[in-house]
Amino acid sequence: MKIVTTVEELRDQLSGQLRTAFVPTMGNLHEGHLSLMRLARKHGDPVVASIFVNRLQFGPNEDFEKYPRTFNADVEKLEKEGVYVLFAPTEKDLYPEPQEFRVRPPDGLGNTLEGEFRPGFFSGVTTVVLKLFSCVQPRVAVFGKKDYQQLMIVRNMCRQFALPTSIIAAETWRADDGLALSSRNMYLSPEERAEAPQLYQALNFVAEEVRQGHKDVFSLEHKAMDTLTQRGWKPDYISIRKQIDLQPPTAGDMAEGAPLVVLAAAKLGTTRLIDNLEI
Ligand code: PAJ
Repeated sequence: MKIVTTVEELRDQLSGQLRTAFVPTMGNLHEGHLSLMRLARKHGDPVVASIFVNRLQFGPNEDFEKYPRTFNADVEKLEKEGVYVLFAPTEKDLYPEPQEFRVRPPDGLGNTLEGEFRPGFFSGVTTVVLKLFSCVQPRVAVFGKKDYQQLMIVRNMCRQFALPTSIIAAETWRADDGLALSSRNMYLSPEERAEAPQLYQALNFVAEEVRQGHKDVFSLEHKAMDTLTQRGWKPDYISIRKQIDLQPPTAGDMAEGAPLVVLAAAKLGTTRLIDNLEI
């Protein structure tokens, strides 16, 4: 695996490649990330990964400084997955001057759910993803359903800007007890780690009720949030949305059986976890 840090070196390594499959990450790699590398390998060649903790997508009170950085362990894992090039720019490499041009996601998709609780987050994500795509020029790029709204927004960005990159979705990788793998799980105390799968349980409860024909979305969402609150969580939202545009389903959508997804974000102690489940 070649490790490159500058855009010039990256372009040299990839010149003439037309079938590049790309997996952008912020490092601290776990099995979920590695499953993306394997999926990428099925959809293109060479596989290129990036590791870059993107300051633009962190709010002023978020964990940019203490976000886990485990570069050497990450490199070892990527070597084993047959990644051809790892692009690991420093901030100076990727943002040699202040990044003043920004992507602004559409209000409907960008300001709801995560966008409501993390203002500027999706603008930071789409700006770096567009820039990384411009550096790597991938034919396909793989994103995890774990970050469902991010996946949708990146997909829509590619469509609206007619980018030549197809977005491939990877299923959420979970621990045996159901907890979705996440770099932020390492912030959990042992007691919190034992409690954490309850978020997935809450999603399963909602999904199962909807499958059984329960149509009162509002009361289901509140019941699930109340359960978590009683267990000591601080939920930001548990929300049933349409898969197509992440907007709330109307009574008509419910009657017609529109494809739905239930998304959740909740704090356990000081750690904020997100998860979702397609219904
Ligand atoms: P990061 O959180 O490192 O995630 C990188 C990719 O791994 C994302 O597509 C994410 O959805 C996926 N992923 C994380 N946990 C997963 C799991 N348990 N199962 C499946 N996929 C999982 O998402 C980002 O970085 C950044 O926002 C980025 C897109 C790199 C832009 O900075």
